[in-house]
Amino acid sequence: MNLSETKAFLVGKGFSESVDAAVILGSGLGGFTTMVENGISVPYQEIPGFPEVTVAGHGGELIQGMVGDKRVLVYSGRFHHYEGHPLERTVIPVRVASEFNAKSLVVSNAAGSINTRFSVGDLMLIDDFMRFGFKSSTGNEMASTRYSNNNEIKLAHKVGLDLGIQLRQGTYMFVKGPVYETSAEIRAFRYLGADAVGMSTVPELLEAQKLGLKSLGITLITNMSTGVSKQKLEHGEIKEVADSRKEDFGRLVAEILQRM
Ligand code: HPA
Repeated sequence: MNLSETKAFLVGKGFSESVDAAVILGSGLGGFTTMVENGISVPYQEIPGFPEVTVAGHGGELIQGMVGDKRVLVYSGRFHHYEGHPLERTVIPVRVASEFNAKSLVVSNAAGSINTRFSVGDLMLIDDFMRFGFKSSTGNEMASTRYSNNNEIKLAHKVGLDLGIQLRQGTYMFVKGPVYETSAEIRAFRYLGADAVGMSTVPELLEAQKLGLKSLGITLITNMSTGVSKQKLEHGEIKEVADSRKEDFGRLVAEILQRM
């Protein structure tokens, strides 16, 4: 597939040829789009070369506009592997961002906390991840992966301090889903050193690294994972928690974009 055609289509819709950064918004975090000024929005299903939108994917739109002084592509809605998209196609938004010369990428997600010291509503910077049972999405199957974003983590902590937003840092466990984990799986993941568990983000971060973009993954803890708390997991919780943190999340990401 030729991404220059995708770009040409979007430029025809009024997008500028070049952006500074891109943001991929996770479940419930679509409210960030209100931070975008002078935005032009195109529904995913109209964009040539994009994966087909599935029912589970609830549509989605790509917006180009200004956040502060930066021109950004904002992806509201993402393509999950569990919806049936091959891993290589879940990273098309990152490849399109690179086609628009984006130099940095912020990827967000909702996840369950494995770490018992974290609480619902916490924001966690992803400093490393695990992805058992997955093949690579980057094409080079034998290459070892060393994901590194130390500078971006440091920068994000500084922004958190400046804005008075508490940030956690930890390791993200990437699972295929779409079912939630068993208690035994969560105990095992904790034993292995994971802090949060979710079904996205890792392919996008790896693709960004491969394409030479700076990258930062931000997790919103929307629930304690299975067995950590007595409460049964409900999908509705995610939206509620995300709504309660949307202001801090928006301020945080907007300021990170200015400094990244
Ligand atoms: N597990 C996996 N994915 C998730 C969770 C969870 O507990 N919460 C939000 N996404």
